[in-house]
Amino acid sequence: MNNKFQIPRGMKDILQDDQKYFDYFLKKAVKIVSSYGFQKITTPIIEKTSLFTTGVGQNTDIVEKELFKILKSGKGESLCLRPENTAGVARAYLENGFISKPQPVQFYYFGPMFRHDKPQAGRYRQFHQFGIEIIGSKDACCDAQIIQVVYQIFKSLNLKNLIIKVNSIGCPECRPDFQNFLKEYFRGKTNNLCKDCKRRLRVNPLRVLDCKNQACKEVVNQSPKSIDHLCKECNEHFKNVLEFLDELDLPYDLEPCLVRGLDYYTKTVFEIETKEDNQGQGALGGGGRYDGLIELFGAKSTPGVGVALGVERIIEQIKTRKNKISQTDFSYQVFIAQLGLLAKKKALRLFRDLQSQNFKVSASLSRDSLKSQLRIANQIKAKFALILGQKEALEETIILRDMETGSQEVIKENKIVEELKKRL
Ligand code: HAM
Repeated sequence: MNNKFQIPRGMKDILQDDQKYFDYFLKKAVKIVSSYGFQKITTPIIEKTSLFTTGVGQNTDIVEKELFKILKSGKGESLCLRPENTAGVARAYLENGFISKPQPVQFYYFGPMFRHDKPQAGRYRQFHQFGIEIIGSKDACCDAQIIQVVYQIFKSLNLKNLIIKVNSIGCPECRPDFQNFLKEYFRGKTNNLCKDCKRRLRVNPLRVLDCKNQACKEVVNQSPKSIDHLCKECNEHFKNVLEFLDELDLPYDLEPCLVRGLDYYTKTVFEIETKEDNQGQGALGGGGRYDGLIELFGAKSTPGVGVALGVERIIEQIKTRKNKISQTDFSYQVFIAQLGLLAKKKALRLFRDLQSQNFKVSASLSRDSLKSQLRIANQIKAKFALILGQKEALEETIILRDMETGSQEVIKENKIVEELKKRL
């Protein structure tokens, strides 16, 4: 194929093998967040660029360096592909009048995000996030609950050795003081910092703290820590969050250098990683409190807290040997194979009837060769195949084949549901 028609760099086609992992993840995650009262929200993939320059911050990597701007003809405001969805959900919360409904409002979302970063393992230019947000409460128990929900999702996926890193980065009251302490500390040490950090020191010194560069890490080791410079309110809030986490028996590590790369955060920030080898893929999810975000959009001050999970990274983890999905999680119970026109018609009806009775059923009605149909039944690991030929269709019978043993029995057509229920 000519190069110019190939998929853009950093993007991926999601084929059947991976789709089932997406479905598996979503089924588990949606069940859990729904039980906590989160309601689904879908916002556009395209938003005004100003939503992110204002909400996430002009000087953050994802806005300054990684935004996919949309070329358009004519005048009008600049548009872009969303790099994240907290700003979009906050916009939708305001635009749809949720601010005058009982608070807090709890949303969940799933969808593609776009960041024009250098593609590498676990870092794509289009990737999917599953996120939850609680908007309208400043209660520390919401911060803990967000972390609890994430932990529960990961447990249900059988992900092991999770590390929850937690920190508090204060608020506009106490942060400027802390930033001054940082600037003071780094003065005279700038020669040891990387090029990016030299710039960060000017625009947002906090970001120097989580630089991955080894030389910067060494300088950062002895630097002042935000939790030692919190105001009374932030201190109290953080203490409460940790108490709730203890109460919920959630294992966490205090990570004084965790600051996160988005400007809207206040107070609590956290990330979830796994100790399992994830080939340097980075965090499986991250989030925090954003009490100042909604005000930036011109509305009254409204607190919020949330998290977004990187679905591709989580799927990579599920695929590691220990966490493989058991076949029963998505395999088909029944495959219907048919031969001849009359049998095909009956197969169509049977398919509908079995589906309506909640059997996991599959068929390949466009195929006429019995052999190739049974090959598919094998591939999708169906437990039973129901075979309908011309003879069976006329005699109102069905052949029930156990796909594991290969043994076959002839069953009366009107007894097949009963028979399947008995065996599954
Ligand atoms: P974030 O840390 O930028 O936070 O992204 C959350 C998660 O998305 C990351 O932990 C990672 O798993 C995944 N992720 C990020 N970038 C990529 C990429 N290039 N390729 C693959 N996966 C990626 C946010 O986006 C915030 N909106 C989270 C939040 C919600 N804060 C409050 N509410």
